Amino acid sequence: MKIVNNFSRTVAVPTEGIKLEGEEPCIRDKYKDDIERVLISKGCLRERVKHLASEIANVFEKAKEVNCVVVLKGGMFFASDLMRLIDDETDLKTQLDFIQASSYYNKSKTSGTVTLKETSALEGDNILLIEDVVDTGKTMSKLQGYLRERKKFFKTCILLDKGLPKAPGFQVDFIGFNIPNEFVAGYGLDYAGKYRGMPDVVVVNKKLLE
Ligand code: IMP
Ligand code: MG
Repeated sequence: MKIVNNFSRTVAVPTEGIKLEGEEPCIRDKYKDDIERVLISKGCLRERVKHLASEIANVFEKAKEVNCVVVLKGGMFFASDLMRLIDDETDLKTQLDFIQASSYYNKSKTSGTVTLKETSALEGDNILLIEDVVDTGKTMSKLQGYLRERKKFFKTCILLDKGLPKAPGFQVDFIGFNIPNEFVAGYGLDYAGKYRGMPDVVVVNKKLLE
């Protein structure tokens, strides 16, 4: 794995993965058959999320507040770390709301049809949409269309971008990491409902994928 020390910009993750100096990411035996390797160690996630919190605080400075709208379920862990850092280390006040988007139906390829469900009323006009990963951009472009019709101001923050061509209408303001085009899990992301609780971002074994 490559050792990375600078998290002040979006980090480009090589296929071999990244970690902090002195970190020894490992995959527990229970997951050895399912998970190929660690792609982003928990230390790297922590460091990059800190920087994202201050980037976000600069953009929302005038508003003095931000409503973190988490795209369920995958964005949950990322948003919970990000929001606590915004509250702990910046002058912004925060709120929390949820929206649910589904398109994968337990497979590793998008179904193409994205369904949305607002699971709490989206408060205020200073919205930060928080999502785990963007692949084709279909989910995001649907969510952004939905917000554009309802809100004066919103920004989008994505933890992982696979760097593929994106659906029309897609835009992003904050990106955590650019990753290779592989199916990943952990830190809130799942494959068929599993692996969300793993602390690192990991690559799912291709033998499992359908
Ligand atoms: P898109 O609509 O093709 O951009 O796909 C984005 C959605 O698919 C995200 O909200 C994720 O829920 C899911 N997704 C895409 N790639 C992955 C992955 O590698 N691991 C887990 N979920 C993924
Ligand atoms: Mg998602």
